Amino acid sequence: MSALHAEVERGYASYTRRSLPFYDGWVLGFCNPRIWECPTPFLLDFYRKHVSNNHLEAGVGSGYFLENGLPEGKPRVALLDINRDCLDYVEKRISDYRPEVFQENLLDTIDLGVPPFDSIALNYVLHCLPGRMETKAALVFDHLIPHLKEDGKIFGSSILGTDVQMSRLAKILLRAKNKKGIFSNANDSLGAVMEALSTRFKTFNVEVYGCVVLFWAKGIRDSHRERLLDQ
Ligand SMILES: C[S@@+](CC[C@H](N)C(=O)[O-])C[C@H]1O[C@@H](n2cnc3c(N)ncnc32)[C@H](O)[C@@H]1O
Repeated sequence: MSALHAEVERGYASYTRRSLPFYDGWVLGFCNPRIWECPTPFLLDFYRKHVSNNHLEAGVGSGYFLENGLPEGKPRVALLDINRDCLDYVEKRISDYRPEVFQENLLDTIDLGVPPFDSIALNYVLHCLPGRMETKAALVFDHLIPHLKEDGKIFGSSILGTDVQMSRLAKILLRAKNKKGIFSNANDSLGAVMEALSTRFKTFNVEVYGCVVLFWAKGIRDSHRERLLDQ
């Protein structure tokens, strides 16, 4: 296994069949309000505001936001993740929606072969990916853009590692997670997220709550679309 593959694997390996049932309690119930200072109800409101009835969830985790945030009716829902355990867990959790399922690495080119989506969510994924924010965000957005409708919206959140106010406990947990490679966000800054969004999208917004950046963006810049087509 190459060094990069090993790093990518460390970013998703902790989400397993055994650990996923505890994710909602530990991450969403405890860490979000107490450590990262961005309470889950706030993230859920943000999710509900931006999700559509033709939606791709990238980095599905336990599927909490899908189960609690999808619009009523019969939305089209697709799940994308590198981790088979997460996909199986969430496919079962939201089985009523009969989701389309794709096992893909967001850091590689993604060829889904299905119609594009009106919304794509990317919550708490960027901080798990190895590399500098400038590089990983660029790769992920460029791999997802071809699957977003022209007037579609991409939205998400990520824990920042620098240039944010952080409690002592948050600093300790962040350092420990970075050491284990579960997070790779020690140098992730708001500026780098904004740079990745502003070079690709005509309209974007960022908000910071605690150590978490929440972002949405829409309208791919023509110059960027042409650049992607030339590649
Ligand atoms: C912290 S969980 C986030 C879960 C969910 N979005 C939430 O906010 O509750 C990160 C998710 O990203 C996935 N992931 C990590 N690295 C990935 C990669 N390189 N490609 C695709 N998915 C990845 C993990 O398997 C996991 O499901």
